[in-house]
Amino acid sequence: MRTFIALPLPDQIRDGLAKIQEGIPAGRLVDAENLHVTLVFLGDQPEGALEELHDSLEVLRAPSFDLTIHGLGTFGGARTRTLWAGIKPEPRLQDLQKSVSRAVRRAGIALEHRRFVPHVTLARFKDSYEEDAPFARFVAAEAGLTLPSFLVRHIALYASHLGKGGAHYEELAQYPLVS
Ligand code: 2AM
Repeated sequence: MRTFIALPLPDQIRDGLAKIQEGIPAGRLVDAENLHVTLVFLGDQPEGALEELHDSLEVLRAPSFDLTIHGLGTFGGARTRTLWAGIKPEPRLQDLQKSVSRAVRRAGIALEHRRFVPHVTLARFKDSYEEDAPFARFVAAEAGLTLPSFLVRHIALYASHLGKGGAHYEELAQYPLVS
């Protein structure tokens, strides 16, 4: 089962991001219901490992915190692969991602050591895509975007089902953060 751990976003934040997505001049938009902040991508994992991970996420006592969506960025360097909304620097989010990564490794799931760049993917682009003037104008115009802060109360484990109409994310379990 292809799985990942993420922060879900409140409805009004997803609505706000969907409004911004309307202006993106190219690429495949992520459905508003699928917008999230990935903490750890697990890929295909056997059920036993996921059960072990579930047990350690259930006893994780990470603090809740306020989060603010701010700014835009891209991954892929010269060949844009994704366009995303950024997150205002928040040490508790970085700490949470570290704790979750530790829980994942304790469950016997190997993870690459990559720098965590918190983001909400808004659109994905084909390999052949080359940035053009409308895209650059859009990114420049929305560079300062800021949405209202919101309290992150829980994280969740998701299964990603890939279908003809795109990905569908199924929430498998929720883990509360503590205030
Ligand atoms: P993204 O938001 O940066 O695109 C579910 O597929 C989530 O897991 C997506 O949000 C995606 O992050 C992330 N994801 C998918 N494939 C991945 C991979 N190979 N490496 C890291 N993250 C991945």
